[in-house]
Amino acid sequence: MLTESLFFPHGFPAFVRIIGMENRVYFGDNLAVLESLPSASVDLVYIDPPFNTGKVQGRTRIKTVRAETGQGDRVGFGGNEYKSVAVGSSAYGDIFDDFLAFLEPRLREAYRVLKHNGSLYFHIDYREVHYCKILLDNIFGRDHFLNEIIWAYDYGGRGKNRWPAKHDNILLYVKDIENYTFNWDEVERIPYMAPGLVSAEKRERGKFPTDVWWHTIVATNGKEKTGYPTQKPMGVLRRILQASANPGDVVLDFFAGSGTTGEAALERGCTFLLADNNPQAIAVMRERFAALGAAVEWITVEPPPVP
Ligand SMILES: C[S@@+](CC[C@H](N)C(=O)[O-])C[C@H]1O[C@@H](n2cnc3c(N)ncnc32)[C@H](O)[C@@H]1O
Repeated sequence: MLTESLFFPHGFPAFVRIIGMENRVYFGDNLAVLESLPSASVDLVYIDPPFNTGKVQGRTRIKTVRAETGQGDRVGFGGNEYKSVAVGSSAYGDIFDDFLAFLEPRLREAYRVLKHNGSLYFHIDYREVHYCKILLDNIFGRDHFLNEIIWAYDYGGRGKNRWPAKHDNILLYVKDIENYTFNWDEVERIPYMAPGLVSAEKRERGKFPTDVWWHTIVATNGKEKTGYPTQKPMGVLRRILQASANPGDVVLDFFAGSGTTGEAALERGCTFLLADNNPQAIAVMRERFAALGAAVEWITVEPPPVP
């Protein structure tokens, strides 16, 4: 079997990697993971870093079980009583003293590992997007910015003292503005908002989505739900991969969380490279990819020893 030793720039062996195209999940700090990847080896990067909200992002998984008479919190068919019990929780910190200083070396590495015709989708929220846009303009070049996608949803509380913020921002950059993947014909079409104003033929075909994507969040009781906080919907990732990846491509997500990018890559016939430093994310991905019957290599990346 062909193997290769990988080294950090400062000379410490990271781990031994089997050469070839296989799905991989790395457990460890993503900067170390990125530094171990060869230049120009990835077709598409999607990342959804922590949003720097200053909160702990957490979610408790709930299961409904049968309860003794008088002990339940709801009554079902035939008068049976049921109650909700917590079966586990996932969490990670979402605060950085200097968010941009944390992101910059990782984004520079992401640029290095992208192929010349590769694209990067950067998912962030409205409070940080402007600072991140300037950072990405510096790395990719301002004229390599293609889109700001607004992912709009309609869920959760809303105060009465401002417009309720119900969207995330996804910035799209390409490495080579003359030559990048964009599969216009392969993106699933959506219904027209005013179907009465277009021909039957157009109505039948649906319209190409714009840069505003209406899509529900992952429902707490939906099929997709893994229980991981901030899990993104398959519909959003599916659309990104339809447009910007071809079957056989290598897709990288180094803030992988529950592994949504990995599932979308499997669906598209791509190979995925995912990284996360939270053991709960790794546990969720193990369960998710096992259920999908995916072959995955699991790699732990040790931090380099302090000199
Ligand atoms: C917003 S979540 C990603 C959610 C993901 N898109 C999904 O659909 O489940 C961000 C993730 O980044 C991870 N993370 C934060 N800092 C990291 C680092 N330095 N290295 C690797 N992962 C990191 C967190 O553990 C968290 O799982």
